[in-house]
Formats: sequence, C-alpha cells, structure tokens
Amino acid sequence: MKISIIGQGYVGLTISTFAAEHFEVLGFDSNQKIVDQLNQGISHIEGIESSKLQRLIKTGRYKATTIGSDIRGSEVVVIAVPTPLTRERKPDLSHIEAACKTIGENIFTSVLVINESTSFPGTLRSFIKPNIEKYSSKIVHHLYSISPERVDPGRNDFNQKSTPRLYSGLTAEATERTREFYSKFCDNLVEVSAPEVAEAAKLFENTFRQVNIALVNEFAQIAHSLGISVYETLDAANTKPYGFMKFTPSAGVGGHCIPVDPTYLAAVAEEHGAPATFIRRANEVNLEMSKYIVNRVATDHGGHLQGKSVLVVGVAYKPNVADVRETAAELVIHHLRSQGAVVSWHDEVVGFWKGESSTPLNGADIAVVVTKHDSVDGKQILASAPYVFDTTGKVKGAKGL
Ligand SMILES: NC(=O)c1ccc[n+]([C@@H]2O[C@H](COP(=O)([O-])OP(=O)(O)OC[C@H]3O[C@@H](n4cnc5c(N)ncnc54)[C@H](O)[C@@H]3O)[C@@H](O)[C@H]2O)c1
Repeated sequence: MKISIIGQGYVGLTISTFAAEHFEVLGFDSNQKIVDQLNQGISHIEGIESSKLQRLIKTGRYKATTIGSDIRGSEVVVIAVPTPLTRERKPDLSHIEAACKTIGENIFTSVLVINESTSFPGTLRSFIKPNIEKYSSKIVHHLYSISPERVDPGRNDFNQKSTPRLYSGLTAEATERTREFYSKFCDNLVEVSAPEVAEAAKLFENTFRQVNIALVNEFAQIAHSLGISVYETLDAANTKPYGFMKFTPSAGVGGHCIPVDPTYLAAVAEEHGAPATFIRRANEVNLEMSKYIVNRVATDHGGHLQGKSVLVVGVAYKPNVADVRETAAELVIHHLRSQGAVVSWHDEVVGFWKGESSTPLNGADIAVVVTKHDSVDGKQILASAPYVFDTTGKVKGAKGL
C-alpha cells in the first residue's frame, strides 16, 4: 500500500518514518532543499536518526518528492503542513489549502485523506473537503478523517507508537479505514464521535498548557513582589497528591503549538459569538513575560541597560531542540536592545539564527538564560558573566524569577 504524506517537517517526517515500517511512503514537501536532503538520507528533525532514514530509502520504503503528480496511486494521503497565524494573528490555512490543491489536482480515484495539521473544529468538513473538491477537475468521492498529531519533539518517554491517538472520520467507512491505518504503528487509538471533537480536543490540550503557563508566569511576578521563592512555593503546592499540576515559570512560550493553537480556538469561538477572554489574556501574559524579565534585569543595574553587553543563553524555544519558531528569546532580545543593551546569544544546538551565529559562553556584563539545553553546564553559565539572570530555574546560584 502506498501512502503519501504532505509536509515533511516535525510531524510529517515523524509519521513517515513510523508508517514506512509497514507501507511504501512518499514524502511530499514543497521545499526542494528539504526533499534533496531527505533523499540523501539526511534527517533535519531531532529524534529522527539519519541512519533510520537511510535504511528506509535503501529498502525502497521511503522517498521524498516535490512533484505533485508523484502522489498518484496512493491509497492514503496524510496532510501535515503548518497552520500558523497571519500578521493580524488570525488562523492562516493557506498551507492546508495548498495541500488540498495538490491532492485535488493529482488524485482522481477515491483515497483516504487524513488531516494531522492542527486547526479549529470544522476544518476537515468545511475547509479541506470543499477545497479538494474545488481543485479537482473530476468528481471524486474521497474518504475524509482527522487524527491530530500530539508528537512532542525532544521527548523520549512517549512517541508515535505509545501516545494515544484520537481519530474520527466524516463517515463510518472513513473512521474504520483510519483505525486500520494507524493500528499498524500506534498502540492506543481513541475514536471520537465527530471530527470536530478531535479537532477541538487538540486545541484544548494546548490551550490548557498555555493558560497554566500564563498562570504560573503571573504567579512568579506575585511571588517576587511578596519576597518569596516561586520555586519553593510551587514545590510546596505540588506535595498535594491530587487536584494540582505543577507548571514552571519561563520567559514565555514558543514553538509552533502553544503560542498559536489557542488563538485558533479563540478565533473560532469568537466567530460563534462565544467569548475567549481567558485565552486571549493568557496569550498576553505570556508575551509580556519577556518585558518583565528585562525590566527585572534593568532594575538590578540601576534601572537601565544602556551600553551593557548582554549574552542571551539558549535561543531555542525549549531545551534540547534546535527549533526557534516563536521563541521567547526573540522578544527578550528585542526588549534588551530597546533598552540600549548590546546583545549577542549563545546556543550551540541552534548554531545559526537570523543571520547571526552562536557566540562563546563568556565575556558579557550580563547573561540572561532563556533556555537551558542539557549539553550546557550550569557552572559554565554561572561563570559566563558577573551577573546571571536565569528564567529557567535550572542554574543554581544565579538570580532568577
Ligand atoms: N511540531 C510539533 O511539535 C507539532 C505537534 C503536534 C502538531 N503539530 C501540527 O502539525 C502541523 C505541522 O507542523 P510541523 O511542526 O510539522 O511543521 P514544519 O514547519 O516542521 O513542517 C511543515 C513542512 O510542510 C512543508 N509544506 C508547507 N506547505 C506545504 C505544501 N503546501 N505542500 C507540501 N509541503 C508543504 C514545509 O516545507 C515544511 O517542511 C501544524 O499544524 C502543527 O500545528 C506540530
């Protein structure tokens, strides 16, 4: 059975390598450079070993392409393309529409189309299906289903096989075919009654994280104003064996999911006349955290940072990954520069970002730790500047939240 997976990023490549153990997989991506690299057996995603990719290529189970007509002959087509926000912070379904165009223009026999991209409830029924039909020159009755991806890059305790997977189709046949497909490489499949439930559940999971992170970020500010340790207080609260889940403060949220997905939920809620004030405010609190941190650092330096050399340590959005999408480091750097600081950054995992390279971990007046990778030694960070402000709570002996 031939499977096509549209989008070969974090989600698409991960699913491709698991599915390729059971099916012939074609990875379609619009980025020629990524496709060329993948066909040479070079993985650009942490957690996916190049050696695994090379084995799959060698045995004819995996191939990448930028040619739309190559997806012809597939029995299943999975959509795993980005769902970002527009400049106005509104859901941007342009990549999904482009994927629908690829499917509509190239597939003329009935296939199972599964969406794994995160989007608001109704996307499968009211956007994907009509768009595929719009771009098709023939009337083709595809089966449609949703199975939102829950992969957490950099995580070792749960993976594609062990993470429970939600799924639901527009018809009973689509639901059943989806179950059959994933059952080959997922241990725990959870059917829900409608695609909209699966779509909403995915958004609510990430909104749950977003609001709890905002809550703990607000609490960090409250604890500081009261002169108590936020970390000790959280640890104390966490001794309660039920009804509490510990989140830790940070410079904000990053990545393709937590800063973005809740806005999809808020947008669809408001479209239906339901208020999303809590979600909107949580987003603001997380975005404002970077300014709060820079103000704390400035306060410790007599209220200004003019001319100070500041090293931002860790610019990836979370530890042990090279992903800088929506990273809080960007806002921290912005606020430092707007206060007149001369900013450089250190992150060997990221290496190169926004036209700048990672600088050595020393020689600054001030270091601000935004992300601490396991590969960076806490003592080395502490020695990198006479004043170190740690937003992660992981650098012992540093100033912090
Ligand atoms: N990264 C995560 O941890 C994660 C987790 C769960 C869900 N998701 C969701 O999965 C979806 C994909 O996210 P990702 O992190 O894999 O994105 P990504 O940016 O890592 O990868 C997307 C890939 O799609 C390609 N692409 C874009 N438009 C295309 C098109 N029209 N046709 C073919 N290829 C196209 C891009 O070149 C890129 O390689 C998003 O909706 C995201 O919210 C991501």
